[in-house]
Amino acid sequence: MPFEKVSTILKEADKNHTSALAFNCVDYTMASSVVRAAEAVHKPVIIMLYPEHSYKNRFCSPEGFASMVRALAEKASVPVGLHLDHCSDYAYIISAVKAGFPSVMYDGSMLPVEENIVNTKKVVETAHILGAEVEAELGHVGFAATKTDQFNEDMYTRADVAAQFCEATGVDSVAVAVGSAHGFYKTTPKLDLGRLEEINKATDTPLVMHGGSGIPLDQVALAFEKGINKFNVGTEFFHLYHTTLDTFYREKGVQGDFFDIPVYVQEKLEEYLVKKLELCRM
Ligand code: 13P
Repeated sequence: MPFEKVSTILKEADKNHTSALAFNCVDYTMASSVVRAAEAVHKPVIIMLYPEHSYKNRFCSPEGFASMVRALAEKASVPVGLHLDHCSDYAYIISAVKAGFPSVMYDGSMLPVEENIVNTKKVVETAHILGAEVEAELGHVGFAATKTDQFNEDMYTRADVAAQFCEATGVDSVAVAVGSAHGFYKTTPKLDLGRLEEINKATDTPLVMHGGSGIPLDQVALAFEKGINKFNVGTEFFHLYHTTLDTFYREKGVQGDFFDIPVYVQEKLEEYLVKKLELCRM
């Protein structure tokens, strides 16, 4: 089937009081594993590209990535969405939309709220004219490596500001900061679920959680119940990809049949993805 709109996937998730899973991918092996795993468990799924992973279009262009995922989506038996993750560059975002990304993130979370509103609104206006959807970020989801970002309540999203932000920008979804952080956690996160519930009550805009790798599963389940409709996972998945390749070479040696690599890796990735996707209750 053609790409599913990310907003349609998130609306369906919201109706079911759950969240869709969104995975950062960098190549065909990762993206096709995501689609195969989603088909195995009959769940919709979202594939995301970090702009950095196109390495200024040297490694993969947004066009090339979008065409690859579109080809996978068209053959898939489940809805597949495509999304450009974290980008603060207006020109790059619009070029990605023109290159085939139906959903993009504008990340102005490092800016004062007023500036974040102005910039997000500008991206939303242009993206909507071009038929694309926009995720923004309010509050700031930092980095787990700092050990402090995840507990810094000054960086957390405020419900009243979220309501104002969503109203003023017309954004299609918003990433909120409630105790998660990007990368491997050094200290177990403790999500502020009360705050999440308040934000969810304050706005009808679907809520996104970043920093999905390593959050204890009981907290993830509660976050889904309390309003998260898109759950981003990257670090765990990349780490597994690299350790699996490493294991392949250790087991088979560098003389191992390289024709076996894709299947070997995809099987391991799919095992992990199937378990992760089971978190989504629709
Ligand atoms: P992790 O890499 O921590 O899983 O976070 C992914 C993410 O939030 C992508 O936007």
